[in-house]
Amino acid sequence: MAVDQSPAALPPATDTYLAVLGEKAVAFERLVHSADPGTPVVTCGSWTLCDLGAHLGQVVPLRGSRVPSIAVDDFTRAVRTWGTTRPGRQRSPAGRDAGRITPVAPWPRGPQAASVDHTPEARMPPVLVTGAAGRVGAVGRTVVEGLRRRGLKVRALVRRDDDRAEALRATGAEVVVGDLTSSRDVAEALDGCGRVYFGMAVSEQYLPAAVTTAVAARAYGGLEAFVNMSQLTVSEMDLTSTSESHQQRQQWLVEQLLGWSGLPVVQVRPTVFLENPLFQVGFSSILRDDTIRLPFGQAKTSPIAAHDVAAAVEEILADPARHVGRVYELTGPRSESIAAMAAEISAALGRTVGYTNVPLEQWLDHDLRALGLPEHVFQHTSTMARLHAANRYDRQADGMEQIMGRPAAGVADYVRRNPELFTR
Ligand SMILES: NC(=O)c1ccc[n+]([C@@H]2O[C@H](COP(=O)([O-])OP(=O)(O)OC[C@H]3O[C@@H](n4cnc5c(N)ncnc54)[C@H](OP(=O)(O)O)[C@@H]3O)[C@@H](O)[C@H]2O)c1
Repeated sequence: MAVDQSPAALPPATDTYLAVLGEKAVAFERLVHSADPGTPVVTCGSWTLCDLGAHLGQVVPLRGSRVPSIAVDDFTRAVRTWGTTRPGRQRSPAGRDAGRITPVAPWPRGPQAASVDHTPEARMPPVLVTGAAGRVGAVGRTVVEGLRRRGLKVRALVRRDDDRAEALRATGAEVVVGDLTSSRDVAEALDGCGRVYFGMAVSEQYLPAAVTTAVAARAYGGLEAFVNMSQLTVSEMDLTSTSESHQQRQQWLVEQLLGWSGLPVVQVRPTVFLENPLFQVGFSSILRDDTIRLPFGQAKTSPIAAHDVAAAVEEILADPARHVGRVYELTGPRSESIAAMAAEISAALGRTVGYTNVPLEQWLDHDLRALGLPEHVFQHTSTMARLHAANRYDRQADGMEQIMGRPAAGVADYVRRNPELFTR
């Protein structure tokens, strides 16, 4: 015999019960609305408010809040429906057990619950990674990938929604499109995050973007770490030094500002990347005639691969407490001349690569100009070439060992990872 399961057939007491539940739902919504979405739910030991929202299925995220909202009418309807159709409980057939509710299986979770991750990492607020699309070293993109592999929630800020943004989404990161010089974009991107990696391309807009991000982070007030991508040259600069590039001056100023900000800052100062245009240009002649063309004379340098810089940033972001307030200087494993580097590359490739020491101005006008870099980037990169020639990049630091417990990989490792750059 069929059982009438329509809401009208429910006993009158149910309406009172639903009314009370409805009131509780409103009170609960008010209570959680301003709460941290990572707050554990008391009755579901391994859940946060975010997990609860995902579980409920019909939730609608409110603008400006990560906490889900559900209309009371929807809630009442959901409870009514649940009371009659929930697969885990069924009304017994009429007869001796008529009207009794018999549990037959655990209540299955809502439609989105299968994808809810209950690990402690997933309960933490997201990490905001800026400059996440990546163009030169792509530190931000590698950091996003690494943090996602660790199960951490990541919000990746990109400037445009292109295939690089799509690739970030494929890692499970939340992608937001914004301009770091826009206070509104930065404030919205920060909302709900607990840690930030601030990295941005070498750009005329670097200073306003960095200041905007720092001011927004102060106003937000919810960060436990602000990891700033700086650069090693900053450690040799002061208020009146003039030999550095406009970009380096901006990054020095930003370090000063962050120092006063009261934010939980970690400064990461890598030396030149192996992915820098200097080496991209200098190594490109290896394919042509097995020589490195650079204007560095006998000067030494200790370039570092961007993936090592990203590994250090990822490690800091994953467990920032012991790093806050520290300044880390990152270099490759050794400082060596380009002739010595050519010998390393020769060994890795199994063929002889030499070094052609090109006069500086000729190299700038002929080799570097050919890249067509924006003027600000050209001024920065050509200044780096000048500082190299003056042996200012002969640096050795132990930041990698301090953070990672290992040195950075060297040039030979870079050759093995990027065979297309060296193999004809
Ligand atoms: N390269 C080196 O040798 C070296 C050495 C030491 C330190 N550093 C520092 O490392 C940083 C660069 O790191 P990286 O190589 O990982 O960067 P990257 O690959 O060039 O990526 C930086 C990203 O910043 C984005 N961006 C630029 N302007 C933006 C804006 N206004 N709003 C939002 N996003 C913006 C770019 O987006 P689009 O791609 O869409 O334009 C780009 O994808 C610089 O601060 C540099 O000083 C570099």
